[in-house]
Amino acid sequence: MSKVFEEIKIIFTTGISEEYLGEDVKLVEHMLQCADLAKEAGAPDYLVVASLLHDIGHLLVDDAPGAQDAGIDMHHDVVGAEWVAARFPVSVAEPIRLHVAAKRYLITTQKDYLAKLSPSSVHTLNMQGGALNQEEVIDFISRVGAEDAVRVRLWDDMAKIRNKPTSKLEDFKEAIDSLALLS
Ligand SMILES: [Fe+2]
Repeated sequence: MSKVFEEIKIIFTTGISEEYLGEDVKLVEHMLQCADLAKEAGAPDYLVVASLLHDIGHLLVDDAPGAQDAGIDMHHDVVGAEWVAARFPVSVAEPIRLHVAAKRYLITTQKDYLAKLSPSSVHTLNMQGGALNQEEVIDFISRVGAEDAVRVRLWDDMAKIRNKPTSKLEDFKEAIDSLALLS
């Protein structure tokens, strides 16, 4: 078993019962659902793994309910991306770094996107800075991994169904092992 897979397994197992604040789904099941949606869409392995790990930052920081209620952003996107970047190629890490910015991008560029968001996601959107201005839109889309981040984001928004049967973490072991920089 690779060291990276083992680390992920520990983080997922430790956080198995952690609720996704304000959402009707647990964090780990949310990430597994997101990875399944990526797989079902025929996404390449690096994007399936990015989807699987996109919210790992929530499991790495103690973003206590009080923080969100108080409007404090714990920047789980950056925390998660840094952890992933130390273990996987840029193609996996950057969509994770940009998945919150992708929400802001989609809000700005797609009229009907806001209606697709959960109430909690709308709440955190304001905390995360809301819509982008024209300059920020151009800046976002020119970044490495931006288009992939938009894809992850759309699966992310759909992956919030409590008790939906999902793959197991082990089902992604091969993809994780093939992409991990450390063995
Ligand atoms: Fe998510």
